[in-house]
Amino acid sequence: MSTRILFFTLTAAALATVAFAASGAGGNPAPAGRGAPAGRGGGGAPTGLRAAMNDMQNMVLALKKDAADPDKIDQTLKTLAQFERDVAIVKMQQPPLDRVPDPVKGLADFRNLMSSLQRTALDLEDAVIAKKVDEIKKLIAKFDELEKAGHNEFI
Ligand code: HEM
Repeated sequence: MSTRILFFTLTAAALATVAFAASGAGGNPAPAGRGAPAGRGGGGAPTGLRAAMNDMQNMVLALKKDAADPDKIDQTLKTLAQFERDVAIVKMQQPPLDRVPDPVKGLADFRNLMSSLQRTALDLEDAVIAKKVDEIKKLIAKFDELEKAGHNEFI
């Protein structure tokens, strides 16, 4: 009889251990999926469209201040990498098509505008490394144009 009790006790302990491990306690947080609330995920990355847009805005402000300064190239390249990350996060969200008359056109426009932001950011990396001040200013102005176009159509 006591052998059976010991057997059940050990089995219950083993199952509890497996359940604890499967729950992810102490491990990595679950990845944020579509529709996750806006905010910050692991490592400080924004997890929703609005949070990513707000971060993009902070990066654009930093670029306007520092991108033409040859002493700040390393920091500027990190700022650009963060901007590119934010744009990629926006591209992983459900595009906000509820305010556009034609959702098919809206989806294509949304993707084009976000990809143009990515291309502009990569061109800006080249211009920053080459210290081409005029080009840097032109490309930063392009961010403003793309933002205007996107907000006119989708907000
Ligand atoms: C450098 C470019 C851009 C910057 C800095 C920027 C910045 C922002 C900011 C600060 C917000 C407000 C977030 C809030 O309400 O908390 C926002 C919202 C939004 N932006 Fe942008 N944006 C940019 C480009 C774009 C583009 C290209 C599109 C579309 C293709 C777009 C679509 C939207 C939409 C749909 C919202 C509203 C989100 C919501 O209220 O749920 N943005 N953006």
